[in-house]
Amino acid sequence: MGKNKLKKFAKVKDMDHVLEPPFSEVLNKDFRLKGKWKEEFGNDNPIVLELACGKGEYSVGMGERFPEKNFIGIDIKGARMFSGAAEVEEKGLTNVRFLRTKIDMITSFFAQDEVEEIWILFADPQLRRARKRLTSWLFLERYIQLLKPGGTLHLKSDSDDLYSYTKEESIPEFNQKNEHFQWRQDFDTNRLYEEGINAFDGRMKEVLNIRTFYEQMWLQQGKSIKYLKYTLEKR
Ligand SMILES: C[S@@+](CC[C@H](N)C(=O)[O-])C[C@H]1O[C@@H](n2cnc3c(N)ncnc32)[C@H](O)[C@@H]1O
Repeated sequence: MGKNKLKKFAKVKDMDHVLEPPFSEVLNKDFRLKGKWKEEFGNDNPIVLELACGKGEYSVGMGERFPEKNFIGIDIKGARMFSGAAEVEEKGLTNVRFLRTKIDMITSFFAQDEVEEIWILFADPQLRRARKRLTSWLFLERYIQLLKPGGTLHLKSDSDDLYSYTKEESIPEFNQKNEHFQWRQDFDTNRLYEEGINAFDGRMKEVLNIRTFYEQMWLQQGKSIKYLKYTLEKR
């Protein structure tokens, strides 16, 4: 590992708003804050997750714009998380945390109905491993164990594959198989900046205009950005 990365890891470890529980503490076990995130934030405000957050641009950007909500950026890569975590410190944001863990274990971290929104931004399309896709049926089944009915799932992606897989395969598969819940599609665009964005205003428009690190790379390559939004409904 490079010196820079090691330095970032060391700094992240010292930050109170970055949580890095060892696997042994959460593998098939409940994390100490499961069901108790309100105590961690010191308020009752809704909890919003940014999955595969990388540098955490959305956690920071939404944290600034929505002081009435709490944000948790989750990723397995600690060095990437450093820039978002450092920004949270600089800006004095008290409503943002970062959690370094595998999203596969997300049900060890949050209790039923503890989460109000999930954002997935530029996740790897995992073309060869459907089960690893963050919108696969397997992950959708995990999300409903923490997301409140009425809660939302947002996907922003450069990938035609992940976009069409989500809306044409995994969501319909979930809706067909699950007897208790279904995902209602609220928004769908495969040309967010050219068309879709015009349907939004205010803070939501600002948020959708945040460009993550990976997004900027894809935009430079001329890719169009896709955005899907779903609401979780009880049947
Ligand atoms: C392509 S990057 C996107 C990062 C960021 N959202 C962006 O747009 O710049 C994908 C990120 O997902 C993370 N990731 C992928 N699968 C994961 C998993 N199962 N658990 C935790 N993190 C994961 C990777 O570590 C990586 O940082």
